[in-house]
Amino acid sequence: MLSSATGARIGITGLGTHVPERVVTNDELATMVETSDEWITERTGIKERRFAAPEEALTDIALPAARAALADAGVRAEDIDLVICATVTPDMLFPTSSALLADALGMPEAAAYDLLAGCTGFVYAIAQAYGMLASGLSKRALVVGGDVLSKILDLEDRSTLVLFGDGAGAVVMEPVSSGGFLGFELGADGGGGKHLWLPGSGSRHFENPDQYVKMNGREVFKFATRVMVYSAERILAECGRTVEDVQVYVPHQANKRIIDYATAKLGIPAEKTIVNVDRYGNTSSGSIPLALADARAAGRLDKGTLVLMTGMGAGLTWGSALLEWTKGKGT
Ligand code: UT7
Repeated sequence: MLSSATGARIGITGLGTHVPERVVTNDELATMVETSDEWITERTGIKERRFAAPEEALTDIALPAARAALADAGVRAEDIDLVICATVTPDMLFPTSSALLADALGMPEAAAYDLLAGCTGFVYAIAQAYGMLASGLSKRALVVGGDVLSKILDLEDRSTLVLFGDGAGAVVMEPVSSGGFLGFELGADGGGGKHLWLPGSGSRHFENPDQYVKMNGREVFKFATRVMVYSAERILAECGRTVEDVQVYVPHQANKRIIDYATAKLGIPAEKTIVNVDRYGNTSSGSIPLALADARAAGRLDKGTLVLMTGMGAGLTWGSALLEWTKGKGT
């Protein structure tokens, strides 16, 4: 799916994030599986990540992020009429985490549903919210992206354990008078789904169902390097922009090597690229909003700043969004 935005200007007016308190270092993981800080750093760029406490579920980390996004937008909870929560680790399948969040925040008028698109979930969710807002179906939306992947990691599988972490971000989206989304490019390849999967998670019963994430890292790596470039080039062309126009690049934080490959191939300089995979690992749907918040904290987002976001993950899925930032620095 590829489309430049037509008509309505819809932008992000509030942004908030939250990560669990517990920091897990590479050295700590090296006491659990046969790995080392050296291997993880060299192959992924990750130094540490956050893991939720045993009693913490997705909505426990998403709620503070959502509250921060509402405060940032200066919007009351009751003025939100749509909540979309992108996650592959909801508290439970139903009630949905978005319904639980809407209830906890006090949003009696809001429609609420969860969206599953692997690590691309947040990009899919902002595109969904854009469509709802542009059509007039919704007036003001809260979009949450977050995951607690530590809950579905096999603590004995070094090939996945070292990569992922927990975290959440949330944005308020509404019609704006300046800036806003310029377009989206979204895609999926179910044929590659077998390379990143959670066998025991649904209605298909396998002989030995497994509750833990399985991944063919090399195949996902090949896929990732391809779609990060392809998707970015397509959305820029569709919106009549060039790589040189991009002022802030927010790639999915899966692996520093994937980010380096994409930036080199696209020709985006390192100083325009946001990287925080060293501190958080791959937080799946939390990854892009956490990186966006880092961009803002570093003073990189100003009124009119052109931001390119590209995600990719289970599905296999990918997605890009091109956005002109609406708010000025420090507002
Ligand atoms: O959001 C999407 C989520 N997933 C991704 O983006 C993951 C994409 N894939 C990757 O990032 C990389 O493929 C990995 C980081 C997962 C692996 O890096 P790699 O350079 O592709 O390594 P590899 O799979 O080719 O493995 C190299 C070696 C293997 O040993 P042998 O077969 O050469 O003896 C692995 O068994 O490294 C070994 N290995 C490890 N060693 C120490 C695999 N995991 C570890 C580990 N510590 N944690």
